[in-house]
Amino acid sequence: MARNEPDVAARVVMEPQEPFSSSEREAVYRAIFERRDVRRNFLPTPIPDAVLTRLLNAAHHAGSVGFMQPWDFVIVRKPSTKRAVKQLFNKTNGAAALRYKKPRADLYRTLKLEGIEESSVNLCVTCSRQRGGPHVLGRSTVRDTDLYSTCCAIQNLWLAARAEGIGVGWVSILSHAALKQVLGIPRPVKVLAYLCLGYVSEFSAKPDLEAAGWRARLPVQELVHYEAWGNRVEGKGRRQGCELPKSIQEPVTRAKRG
Ligand SMILES: Cc1cc2nc3c(=O)[nH]c(=O)nc-3n(C[C@H](O)[C@H](O)[C@H](O)COP(=O)(O)O)c2cc1C
Repeated sequence: MARNEPDVAARVVMEPQEPFSSSEREAVYRAIFERRDVRRNFLPTPIPDAVLTRLLNAAHHAGSVGFMQPWDFVIVRKPSTKRAVKQLFNKTNGAAALRYKKPRADLYRTLKLEGIEESSVNLCVTCSRQRGGPHVLGRSTVRDTDLYSTCCAIQNLWLAARAEGIGVGWVSILSHAALKQVLGIPRPVKVLAYLCLGYVSEFSAKPDLEAAGWRARLPVQELVHYEAWGNRVEGKGRRQGCELPKSIQEPVTRAKRG
């Protein structure tokens, strides 16, 4: 890690009262719509320290309950460590496949659900639940807000990585207890995510699970309620409220509920 890398966020000229220009706004939405969970197409090209620092800094600028910043990042590059983590995945994934009946089980076995050894950097993101002491502003009401905060950090990194041309894949199919042993993570610290990062030859247009026929995106309109749960219509029977401008719409795919 380049420890003396200047703080990227501090270098941006801030004019907080101004909306983004249209190209800036489109870049933000582009990162959102073109972000993918990546498990294939990783290139051996190393991620320069300065770029990795930018990604970690993007994560570190996420919102956090009471500003507690509960995250830590364990960077894994050694093939032997990756191999050990891959073994954890293989074990859990084998058990996961048994939960499905045919033909779903057969489809499950064809899915590629990790890129641990192919990606140049693995990153374990943790949440230190004691950080900030016992009374963190806002966390006393909803105890898990420290976990939510760490997820916000991961999403920042995921989006920034897309803008850098770096794919990120989240691997949750492994035992966190065993992973903690492999990485020497202390008992009270919670593992939130194990991520695989690397430059890729391409980003898929659709989620891999959608392309594989596993599950499709739900239409957002079906997930919006007006004023109270279950009320699908706003005003006098007119359906409105979640029309997005054309420039920030992504192609609509019909989805099955389930
Ligand atoms: C909390 C979390 C855990 C995930 N775990 C896995 C995983 O273990 N393996 C995998 O292939 N994808 C995993 N994913 C990725 C999802 O499958 C993916 O986000 C989803 O299919 C939508 O695709 P997209 O991210 O490309 O839009 C995870 C995503 C999240 C947010």
